[in-house]
Amino acid sequence: MTPRHFLDISALSREELRAIIDEAHARKAARIDWPKARVDEDAPLDGYALAMIFQKNSTRTRVSFEIGMRQLGGVSIVLDAASTQLGRGETVEDTARVLSRMVDAVMIRANSHQDVLDFAAASDAPVINGLTDLSHPCQIVADIQTIEERAGDIAGKTVAWLGDGNNVCTSFIHAAEKLDFKLRIATPAKYAARAQEVAAARAAGADIEVGADARAAIEGADVVVTDTWVSMGDTDKEERMAAFPPYAVNDEMMARAAKDALFLHCLPAHRGEEVADSVMDGPQSAVWDEAENRIHAQKAVLMWCLGKL
Ligand code: CP
Ligand code: NVA
Repeated sequence: MTPRHFLDISALSREELRAIIDEAHARKAARIDWPKARVDEDAPLDGYALAMIFQKNSTRTRVSFEIGMRQLGGVSIVLDAASTQLGRGETVEDTARVLSRMVDAVMIRANSHQDVLDFAAASDAPVINGLTDLSHPCQIVADIQTIEERAGDIAGKTVAWLGDGNNVCTSFIHAAEKLDFKLRIATPAKYAARAQEVAAARAAGADIEVGADARAAIEGADVVVTDTWVSMGDTDKEERMAAFPPYAVNDEMMARAAKDALFLHCLPAHRGEEVADSVMDGPQSAVWDEAENRIHAQKAVLMWCLGKL
């Protein structure tokens, strides 16, 4: 049987995505104020093991999967790709064949999305995309959870994305296709959202506007989202730092959004660059809930992958 890989939100049905988000809400509500490593009452992944492979740095993804797996009753192992035999040339396919004999699921944070696809194709265990150059689907499950707990159902809301049309932006595009919110993306032309992803999402019914005007995108928006101007692996830092300042989210920008608009950022943030301190630390910021929700969201993703949803 083909394992249930979680590679991109675009590959899920609307019902599957909704079930994952609802599970994240329910798991969070069921353990308010509990010690972080206490196992959930139903321990749905008792006896299961997760391996995580990191080719890039991580704080939130690593900790949320590790603690999340423990809360579900399972165990996890963290591998730094460079110190595994991947770092000495063992193929991703052979690594997948071996790991899927040893663990029940694998999460990979990789430089190349193709490597994750190749890994998944050779794996007998479910594979989770923990961020690639193309996308960051786990993040967006947590983002949707955060929006919904602060502002109710995301359907019908307007989300403004300002800055780089990067991996996190791509996963928002995928989500717009499934959850009926309006997505307005403003980027410099050189760093536009991937046209192919936008076209595919629109063809599937998504309401997405793309342009270069940050003020037009943020006007009246219910949610304002940004991310670093220089992602892991980007090599043109100087050019980027020159192109992005008009997309910085500051008080003047937030004043153009809806009155109680939320501010989201997947973190890590570069304060004073893509976001001002006053916005990060201000009353409209939901970034700490968003970070916490990575745990609840990742637990729901793990459960879906392992056939528990
Ligand atoms: N947002 C996010 O994925 O954070 P890390 O890079 O710290 O995992
Ligand atoms: N776009 C950022 C997200 C980090 C979580 C990056 O890829 O570095």
